[in-house]
Amino acid sequence: MRGVTGMAVVVTEPFLGQKPGTSGLRKTVAEFSQYQYFQNYIQSVFDCLEGHNKRTLIIGGDGRYPGEKFAPIVIQLAAANGFENIVVAQKAWLSTPAASHLVRKHNAVAAVVLTASHNPGGKNGDFGVKVMLSNGGPAPDSFARSIHQRSLAIREYRTVEDTVPDLQHCGSYNFAGSRLDVIDPVNDYQELMQRLFDFNALAELAESRFTMMFDGLNGVSGPYAERILARTLGFSSAHFKRTNPLPDFGGQYPDPNPVYAGRFHNAMMSIAAPDFGAACDSDADRHMIMGRGICVAPSDSLAILAQHMHLAPAYACGIAGVARSVGTSTAVDRVATHLQIPCFETPTGWKYFGNLLDAGLITLCGEESSGAGSSHIREKDGLWAVLLWLSIIAATRKPVSHLLQEHWQQFGRTYYERRDYEEIDEGACHDMLTRLRLRLPRLPGRATALGNIEQAYDFSYLDPVNHSISEKQGIVLHFSSGARIVTRLSGTGTTGATLRVYGERYDQHRFDRIPGEYLESLFDILDQIAGISAITRQYAPSLVT
Ligand code: G1P
Ligand code: ZN
Repeated sequence: MRGVTGMAVVVTEPFLGQKPGTSGLRKTVAEFSQYQYFQNYIQSVFDCLEGHNKRTLIIGGDGRYPGEKFAPIVIQLAAANGFENIVVAQKAWLSTPAASHLVRKHNAVAAVVLTASHNPGGKNGDFGVKVMLSNGGPAPDSFARSIHQRSLAIREYRTVEDTVPDLQHCGSYNFAGSRLDVIDPVNDYQELMQRLFDFNALAELAESRFTMMFDGLNGVSGPYAERILARTLGFSSAHFKRTNPLPDFGGQYPDPNPVYAGRFHNAMMSIAAPDFGAACDSDADRHMIMGRGICVAPSDSLAILAQHMHLAPAYACGIAGVARSVGTSTAVDRVATHLQIPCFETPTGWKYFGNLLDAGLITLCGEESSGAGSSHIREKDGLWAVLLWLSIIAATRKPVSHLLQEHWQQFGRTYYERRDYEEIDEGACHDMLTRLRLRLPRLPGRATALGNIEQAYDFSYLDPVNHSISEKQGIVLHFSSGARIVTRLSGTGTTGATLRVYGERYDQHRFDRIPGEYLESLFDILDQIAGISAITRQYAPSLVT
């Protein structure tokens, strides 16, 4: 390692439970605030990065508390650990997709993104650390296991005592022997979007009578939306809401769904609403799309993007393939069949898409939790999805409702709902899933109100690129009527267990049903088989999206 000026080696003790979940390490702020907890985790990450000397590290976050205090700590540890170049976003505000792009652009070894994504923020909320590796994608399971093991053995961390320069302003510094660049986080991202989309066509749309609402939910997407959508493309920001990042997201969950983004949802449901509405989560990797009076379900959004993606210049030659997570509806599968391209089914979380993208097997991927992205980076990308939707509207001049109806006419409608049971008893939930697993071999052939159960299995994923196997990724039941239900435990919660149940029923001809009503019998069947309401001690799920 090169000489680091002012380096201190600090003695520490391991913490139990520094185990990354679906999307990095996520814990309550209280847990993260324990003395040396954060330093231990960052040092464990650095210890697992091979050959990081003389390499670049990207740092940023979604602005949540106490990111302002933690970002300088990452910089100090990075300098002490010998990174040649440390690139940090101004104010340490950096969206997850912009971080992924910076990793790829700078040929960086990793990024540390201080975010707990859609989880609530503030002193009583959650904090998190996402780690991206050199392809710009989330660290895979194997790397996450190494971090956890390292965190259990750690006895010291390295830091420097030098004061970190003010991150409020851009600039380049020599910091304890490392080059430190504080950069404008929007510039590079905007330049990438300009390569993918026809900004002239989008500016023409902005000039027409077309109006849009954008809700940043006080996360980090706001500055990107203001600069790209309003300042560059010329969309009026008269209906832009909550575009200023706040450390507690104004006390709301920064999650763009009809419940947590209720104010945005209700405003777009009004007859006086703008033509188009979009919202993003705290770190701007999720998106929600609405038309006036209509909300596009995320699984439908993914399918519609696949159907029309060729309308954007970067994808004009067509797409290689698509991928979706197991809980996501099969709407996109039908588009893939129509386009004669492969469709991959992966476990939940973005880390499984990276290999498929790197190998050129897919161009588009997405999840029911409002994530979609393409081969331009290795993370989901909220603003990108908004720009792609706008590109489709600019090319077709059709409103959102029309595009949705047209999609259903051509492919049929996949009615879909996800029901979450939050903060339930962990032990009881594990027992319930264990019992269900044991019953799976006996379920096929059983008659139900939705036809016979045709298949019942615990989803296991064989990565077609590196041939790794990920087991126990969700229990799946298929019915002869075409209905499908999946259940799994969330890997992003911080208190108790969160059970997610994903249900879908397909209808080729009728598109006006109420999803919740149409799906009720499907959720009932799983409840009868698995006894979910008995262990959740509540009959209604705590969140339905
Ligand atoms: C949730 C979503 C998943 C998403 C992840 C990170 O994970 O379900 O689709 O990739 O957040 O944004 P879960 O809590 O279900 O493990
Ligand atoms: Zn997110």
